[in-house]
Amino acid sequence: MARLYLPVIAVQLLLLVAGVAGGPWQEFLRPQSDKEKDVVGTRWAVLIAGSKGFENYRHQADVCHAYQIMKKGGLRDENIVVFMYDDIANNSANPRPGVIINNPNGSDVYAGVPKDYTGKDVDVKNFLAVLLGNNSALTGGSGKVVNSSQDDHIFVYYSDDGGPGVLGMPIDEDERLYANDLVTTLEKKHAAGTYKSLVFYVEAAESGSIFEGLLPANISVYATTASNAVMGSWTAYCPGEAPPEFTTCLGDLYSVAWMEDSDAHSLGNESLELQYEKVKNRAHLSPVMQYGDLALNAQNLSVFMGSSNPANHSATVGDTDNSLRQLSPAVKQRDAGLLYFWHKYRKSSEGMPEKSEARKELMEVMAHRSQVDNNVELIGGSLFGTEEGPQVLNVVRPTGQPLVDDWDCLKSMVHGFEEQCGLLRQYGMKHTRAFANMCNAGIGAEAMRKAASKACTTATPAF
Ligand SMILES: *[C@@H]1O[C@H](CO)[C@@H](O)[C@H](O)[C@H]1NC(C)=O
Ligand SMILES: *[C@@H]1O[C@H](CO)[C@@H](O)[C@H](O)[C@H]1NC(C)=O
Ligand SMILES: *[C@@H]1O[C@H](CO)[C@@H](O)[C@H](O)[C@H]1NC(C)=O
Ligand SMILES: *[C@@H]1O[C@H](CO)[C@@H](O)[C@H](O)[C@H]1NC(C)=O
Ligand SMILES: *[C@@H]1O[C@H](CO)[C@@H](O)[C@H](O)[C@H]1NC(C)=O
Ligand SMILES: *[C@@H]1O[C@H](CO)[C@@H](O)[C@H](O)[C@H]1NC(C)=O
Ligand SMILES: *[C@@H]1O[C@H](CO)[C@@H](O)[C@H](O)[C@H]1NC(C)=O
Ligand SMILES: *[C@@H]1O[C@H](CO)[C@@H](O)[C@H](O)[C@H]1NC(C)=O
Repeated sequence: MARLYLPVIAVQLLLLVAGVAGGPWQEFLRPQSDKEKDVVGTRWAVLIAGSKGFENYRHQADVCHAYQIMKKGGLRDENIVVFMYDDIANNSANPRPGVIINNPNGSDVYAGVPKDYTGKDVDVKNFLAVLLGNNSALTGGSGKVVNSSQDDHIFVYYSDDGGPGVLGMPIDEDERLYANDLVTTLEKKHAAGTYKSLVFYVEAAESGSIFEGLLPANISVYATTASNAVMGSWTAYCPGEAPPEFTTCLGDLYSVAWMEDSDAHSLGNESLELQYEKVKNRAHLSPVMQYGDLALNAQNLSVFMGSSNPANHSATVGDTDNSLRQLSPAVKQRDAGLLYFWHKYRKSSEGMPEKSEARKELMEVMAHRSQVDNNVELIGGSLFGTEEGPQVLNVVRPTGQPLVDDWDCLKSMVHGFEEQCGLLRQYGMKHTRAFANMCNAGIGAEAMRKAASKACTTATPAF
């Protein structure tokens, strides 16, 4: 029945418009996005934390904080997609149950965060499907996708450890996002004509390698990264600076720098470029970088993050005037896990079972690290000789060139290594450059696999 009425109403409207051409009806019938063409279409945000575990508290804290910024900027929950493993708030190690903070003086950033994709649903396939707006490619989760159109603006923020050419995902099993797949997805999204501009902020070690030599300048995508393609990124508010009951870091340097800046300023009055400069200045321990369509530099933050009033943010961060204060950084991303297990061991009571448990954990983490490092070194030695090996594995390609030419080769290398020698895990992702350089030197995955099978059976762990 209802279907019959619609055409009737449409015809009536058409008659009306024809009768009063030039009248207010034309304005009324024009699509909303057309009227606001110079302002914005719909703003979308995709926020993702690539880790799990209490030692990685900071990544999910960053993402929750980013959600609060978008929310205060006026983005609606239906347009914000959050990926987080969600094992922090209720973690038995959390000194403030049910609460997550991202600043020593900050209040809860966990409240209200949508649970779109949690646990094992935080994966590469879902993330790329959400970006593309393809709900038939999803597994699990809320089903929310970036169902955007040509006038829309999209903000993407990723926080984790990462490694050269890869972004980690919380599930260890060979699950990580390779830079070429991410950039291909962005190109696909552009070809589909489903955004006006897209901004991508990345917190990760060697995060410049995600876009270096890969991200075209002509697909209206602008990216900033916590570091260049070679250097690590840094944590923030670690034990010592965090409240005494915390044995884990609360945030990451680049991330808190952009977020506390967004909290403290009028987003309609600050360009992407100005924020980049401020973040670069504050997160000075790693070279913060820009990639892609730099013409977007002139856009105001409000185009992507909404137009919030800084007065509304005082509850999130205790000290909003400190945005140019240099943070005292504690540790590099990649050492934060080790620091956590060290503090956990140190703090546990002498003579209790938890002490020996914590000791075992710490020893296991250290053993895995040295095992991965040794194995990669042995493989390099067997492929290139003990003299040449380390040099070849550590080669850094000139600026403007991607990490590797053959990404499928890199994937096979990493896969082959993990089959023979065990998972790289979060720490081991630092070695993806070594595998990329093997590919660049013309080594095939089969030759590496043979070397790995030899190296990893002779170098059994020492514990
Ligand atoms: C922000 O603050 C203004 C003025 O105090 C208030 O009117 C507005 O509702 C607040 N907006 C949000 C999203 O809290
Ligand atoms: C955390 O605990 C609260 C209270 O028991 C519960 O409502 C919530 O669902 C739990 N969240 C998760 C992610 O387990
Ligand atoms: C969406 O994903 C499905 C399943 O992976 C795929 O078959 C389909 O081609 C995708 N659609 C688009 C528009 O990319
Ligand atoms: C996207 O939005 C259109 C209307 O704007 C709607 O018809 C469609 O079902 C939406 N798709 C998804 C995957 O939400
Ligand atoms: C972007 O520029 C490259 C190189 O000039 C060109 O091959 C490509 O087709 C362009 N892409 C788009 C989407 O315009
Ligand atoms: C916008 O920025 C200018 C220059 O920094 C400043 O003088 C002005 O007060 C700002 N306006 C608002 C609304 O924040
Ligand atoms: C950014 O906002 C300022 C102040 O509101 C305005 O003067 C300027 O034109 C805006 N810039 C752009 C690119 O929209
Ligand atoms: C927290 O608040 C105290 C007291 O106001 C201040 O000294 C300190 O700098 C603040 N810390 C941060 C990280 O904002």
